[in-house]
Amino acid sequence: MFGEAIAGEALDGEVGFEPYAPSEFRIKWTTLDWEADEAYKLRRAVFCIEQGIFVGDDRDDIDMQAQQLVAVSCVAGMPEQVVGTVRIHRDEGNVWFGSRLAVHTAFRRHGKIGATLIRLAVSSAHALGCETFLAHVQSQNVPLFRALHWDVLAEETLLGRPHHLMQAQLDWYPPCVTPYGGFVTHTQPRGLASARSAA
Ligand SMILES: CC(C)(COP(=O)(O)OP(=O)(O)OC[C@H]1O[C@@H](n2cnc3c(N)ncnc32)[C@H](O)[C@@H]1OP(=O)(O)O)[C@@H](O)C(=O)NCCC(=O)NCCS
Repeated sequence: MFGEAIAGEALDGEVGFEPYAPSEFRIKWTTLDWEADEAYKLRRAVFCIEQGIFVGDDRDDIDMQAQQLVAVSCVAGMPEQVVGTVRIHRDEGNVWFGSRLAVHTAFRRHGKIGATLIRLAVSSAHALGCETFLAHVQSQNVPLFRALHWDVLAEETLLGRPHHLMQAQLDWYPPCVTPYGGFVTHTQPRGLASARSAA
């Protein structure tokens, strides 16, 4: 009887349980090999298979110098799976770029994972002396970045797709000097739009 209940099946006259899903996510700079490997797999799933922008592999020379960030789902505080990623790199002087932002399809609009990856990307670059933080944003995502205090600098076509060159308003991204610990964000309760992310 307990086994059936744990499996999530409704018993006669009882309420069925929701299927299990992680509810806590740590957004951090990548430190472990498995995190980096899963982040590359997620990028291939999103940019090669889902979006078809690259064939086979999306890695390029920027990966040699970029800092990778990951969003890791946690169970009882223990890391479980990489569900999001982005990378940052210094371009020239104090100009930094963010790129390859991706969240697993099952976790989109779920716990502000993309928004928190953006927050740590910009805030950790800011701590390293970044004075200008830019990204070539796929045009369908411009409303997301505008809501996070980014400005449009130009419209452009990259890799055959419409993009916007956008710049973060650094005043909204105080320097983060603990990027290996990063931020924690939680699943949004259904119908609740307010942020629950915390440093
Ligand atoms: C873009 C992407 C990273 C967003 O990640 P996400 O985890 O779903 O985003 P979040 O949950 O943090 O979104 C934060 C808020 O922005 C909203 N939002 C998310 N994507 C949006 C979009 N494209 N347009 C408008 N609003 C958006 C969410 O609904 C949420 O709203 P709320 O504050 O009212 O709750 C994800 O959709 C993705 O991986 N897409 C495919 C790859 C891609 O497009 N990469 C970006 C290249 S520039």
